[in-house]
Amino acid sequence: MSNKQPIGIFDSGYGGLTVFRSIANLLPDYDYIYLGDNARAPYGNRSFNTIHQYTWECVQLLFDMGCPLVILACNTASAKALRTIQQRDLLNEEPYKRVLGVIRPTAEVIGSYSRTKEIGVLGTKGTIQSGSYLIEINNFFPDVKVHQQACPIWVPLVENGEHDKPGADYFVKKYLDQVLAQSDKIDTLLLACTHYPLLMPKMQEYLPAGIKVVPQGDIVASSLQDYLRRHPEMEQRLSKGRVQQFFTTSDDTMDFDHHASIFFGEEVKSEYIPLK
Ligand code: DGL
Repeated sequence: MSNKQPIGIFDSGYGGLTVFRSIANLLPDYDYIYLGDNARAPYGNRSFNTIHQYTWECVQLLFDMGCPLVILACNTASAKALRTIQQRDLLNEEPYKRVLGVIRPTAEVIGSYSRTKEIGVLGTKGTIQSGSYLIEINNFFPDVKVHQQACPIWVPLVENGEHDKPGADYFVKKYLDQVLAQSDKIDTLLLACTHYPLLMPKMQEYLPAGIKVVPQGDIVASSLQDYLRRHPEMEQRLSKGRVQQFFTTSDDTMDFDHHASIFFGEEVKSEYIPLK
């Protein structure tokens, strides 16, 4: 492990695996370590301070395992912890390491997906209340109208493997109806939560024709590819052995492996990493 310098991918639980899958497809040569903080997920309804504390602890675990670069593959952590990590924690404690999020890369391109210039953003309560997407999308696309909708039940549905069960239908329809009630011009729905792609088959059942649903995985993957092109000093540090490791803060690794394999699209074998 000592001379390996993998890319770290972090999420509160399983959701980041949808982003990791896209990253590993586009950039298969690197070594990766995925860390899910399943012992403390979900993060969505927690306070700024708690989300920052949990996220920074997990980022440090990834640093300790040799990762010089960590992707927060979690919108909630990107919305509530990334700024403090980038502007304070890294400067004070780890000036040669980098942490990137998923909001900015998504905001940079999402405006170009909409013909009507009206976008619905679906996320956890934390992400939506932070207003991060509203601000960032309007920075890049001042003429785009952003309609936000918190979907607080969706992550627990997914984390508990209920996303494709009949009970999920009520909550899928409920939040879709609420976001679409904000404007009949919305033609694009951004899944601003890395868990939500698993609900896409159900969403399609309730959405009127002509509304595009956009998950973030591929957007974040191509933004990372671009970042590595622009930052050769980081790219050259990264090891390329095609090794992918999975860690969870939950001691039930069998349960993690079962769920994670669904998110990742192939079999996952994880190891338990206790929180300090
Ligand atoms: N996957 C996280 C996100 O993208 C949400 C999960 C959580 O609430 O912990 O926002």
